[in-house]
Amino acid sequence: MRAEFRAVAPGASSGERLAVWARRTARDILAVELPRRWAHTQGVAERAEEVARVLPSDEADVLVASAWLHDIGYASALNVLGFHQLDGARFLAEHGVPRRVCALVAHHAGAAAVAELVGLGPRLAEFDDEQGPVRDALWYADMTTGPDGARVSFAERMAELRGRRGPEDPVVRALAVNGAERAAAVRRTEQLLSRYAVPA
Ligand SMILES: [Fe+2]
Repeated sequence: MRAEFRAVAPGASSGERLAVWARRTARDILAVELPRRWAHTQGVAERAEEVARVLPSDEADVLVASAWLHDIGYASALNVLGFHQLDGARFLAEHGVPRRVCALVAHHAGAAAVAELVGLGPRLAEFDDEQGPVRDALWYADMTTGPDGARVSFAERMAELRGRRGPEDPVVRALAVNGAERAAAVRRTEQLLSRYAVPA
């Protein structure tokens, strides 16, 4: 069943930043039903805000909004395809969220390789994977934040993922295809951050 959620993303004339709307929307969808996922989401948004400081303001708003929204597809009310990236992206598209944010949510965390394994490749391909610094930063924020929102290394996150899901889970099986791409996104974002690092 589709969500009864009625919120509509702010239009260009509303004056509200998309990231502000995104935070409120993610909280409304996740906080009660999935508190651990909400804690993770808050950690991911915090990480994204750190990267956002070195991006132009429009890009920063897109990144932080995407971070708040990236896992809303786990909510039962949004579950249609059983694939959280796509369920989240489709919900957002239906609620007037800019296509770019929908696409970032659709493709985060190596979704393409997982979608291929579960027969959803063509559905995911309805969204573009922009493959730039904002996309890398979203992947970085997600993959350096643990399930409770704590900061973790990329290696710790991947080990936790394997242990929690087990070897037969498509997300784990897909690491053979997207593991290097995930690592590269983290590395590129760390390089971006290091260029702006303040000397101690
Ligand atoms: Fe996540």
